[in-house]
Amino acid sequence: MKVRSVVTVSLIGLLALSGCSPEPTVDPAPSDGIDRSYLDSSLPLETRVEVLLSQMTQAEKLGQMTQVEEDSLEPGDVALLNLGSVLHGGGGLQGASDAAAWKATVLEHQREAMEDTRLGIPLLYGIDAVHGFGGMDGATVFPHQIGLGAANDPELMTQIGHATAQELAAVGIRWNFAPVLAMPGDIRWGRTYETYSQDPDVVASLGTAYLRGLQGSDLADPSTVLATPKHFVGDGATVYGTSTQIIQVPYLLDQGDAPADPALLEGSLLPPYRAAIDAGARSIMASFSSWGGEKVHGDATLLTDTLRGELGFTGFVVSDWGGCDQVAAKTGFEKVAQCVNAGVDMVMTPFDGEGFQSSLEMAVSRGDVSQARIDEAVSRILTVKFQMGLFDGPVDPAVPTDVVGSAEHRELARRAVQESQVLLSNDGVLPIGPEVRTIAVVGDAADDMGVQAGGWTRSWQGDVGPVIPGTTIAEGIQQRAGADVLVTVGMPDSGQVDLCIAAAGEVPYAEGMGDSTTLALPGLTVLDELGDRCASTVLVVVTGRPVLITNTVDRVDAVVVAWLPGTAGEGIADTLFGDVPFTGTLPVNWPRNLDQVPTAPDGEEYLFPIGFGLTG
Ligand code: GLC
Repeated sequence: MKVRSVVTVSLIGLLALSGCSPEPTVDPAPSDGIDRSYLDSSLPLETRVEVLLSQMTQAEKLGQMTQVEEDSLEPGDVALLNLGSVLHGGGGLQGASDAAAWKATVLEHQREAMEDTRLGIPLLYGIDAVHGFGGMDGATVFPHQIGLGAANDPELMTQIGHATAQELAAVGIRWNFAPVLAMPGDIRWGRTYETYSQDPDVVASLGTAYLRGLQGSDLADPSTVLATPKHFVGDGATVYGTSTQIIQVPYLLDQGDAPADPALLEGSLLPPYRAAIDAGARSIMASFSSWGGEKVHGDATLLTDTLRGELGFTGFVVSDWGGCDQVAAKTGFEKVAQCVNAGVDMVMTPFDGEGFQSSLEMAVSRGDVSQARIDEAVSRILTVKFQMGLFDGPVDPAVPTDVVGSAEHRELARRAVQESQVLLSNDGVLPIGPEVRTIAVVGDAADDMGVQAGGWTRSWQGDVGPVIPGTTIAEGIQQRAGADVLVTVGMPDSGQVDLCIAAAGEVPYAEGMGDSTTLALPGLTVLDELGDRCASTVLVVVTGRPVLITNTVDRVDAVVVAWLPGTAGEGIADTLFGDVPFTGTLPVNWPRNLDQVPTAPDGEEYLFPIGFGLTG
């Protein structure tokens, strides 16, 4: 019997004798010799971690450092590999993806972790619910971060974080790989839409507001979700053309190299993370990108000296998707060693949990990674799991699934869409008045939920078409216009139209597959098809970043940027008809041409500068 459990038994004995018997905790003398006092929530957190860690085998420790992709799991793998975490990397499940299917999937893995393993350490199940849980049918899908940056409303961000947490916790998911705290230095980046702004103060303000919404006032509350500020650090500061990644296409910016500029680091890149850590961040994801030519995943100066020494981060660092495989070291176990020694505590090794564990085991046996470093990483992970109450609550979530896609959340999404709309030009055609009796909503974004939602929704890259339930731009306009106004989707067969609303959108993308060489918006060609049949024309741009509209602005009577609004397309009609005023402002500079990217030459004005937005 462990010395510690003898102490626990005598303490319980004393308390019982004194008449103040502690809450029934655990069997002080179990037959299997395990000291389960770590399950006693009345004990100090540090004690619980120490009692558990001291009994863990090396396999169990390495298991806690292993995060594996859902789609690679076979029944029994969670226990076999002692997994500390499972993730689903973007999109829906292979089968059904409604709340019931997600709940059954997640709870079975959790059951396996807590009932089929020796110590019953609960899993952390992680997901990219970066604009709501787009991979769950019926979930509320909010605007992507770039639109929320245009709204720039911290109170709204906190509410969105809370709503997202509720919809995740309802199916047993308590970890969200969000928010992104990058600033898009070059808006051709395929992840610009995942950022809030080019202004680090806005990023810090909205990122921490969202984190507070996810994590609530106490992470032990089962309806809260662990946030993960990402990707530390410099993911949005890479130089065009420096990426060497190829995933179906050569990446240009994403996962590229950022110049190791101390002024940029201290002045812009670190402040949002400092704010997030001060706001309670307990996990942070490392960046795929490089800093001064070295992969961040292998850079101890950033992941340890800066993140922990300078910023005081005490949570755990999770790698990105196979991020440890990209560090400079040669062999598999040397890469793992470099990554873990640099400061990665949990490794996202989507399809090779076993290989990772044997590499790390070899690294430890060779002395390339110290046992102290393993114990440090595992302690950090366990500390967060204890802080989240994962050991203390039932496997079944406390939040009912009817919160998924609730009317309250859909109204919140509608408000977010309203506040994110940016009016760039208006010759008086907006708001739409009662004199307008015929409206044609045209263009590739007019009636397409997939275009509205963008990437990280029903699939990682996103798709065009009716990918998820929701209200399209055209549907929102039809609902708002009412029975006295004839609204067509597409041009009517003949005759004049009082108002054409041309909605042009980017084809969905994610990460480096969305890195752009042109910032073109092919859907603008719809304007060429209207002829002179429209008395007035409004252009609605559905995009994750500024696109080149310089030669278009004067062709139309108004330009509205809708960003990637998600399921609540009705929020766009609300502003077009003037039910809600335009209040959004540009979170990034909008260039006239590619010569102004990543930044305009001295003295040149952007087409529209950051902060621009007409009201009305
Ligand atoms: C991706 C992204 C990261 C995401 C992770 C898990 O490659 O870089 O933002 O959280 O993998 O899906």
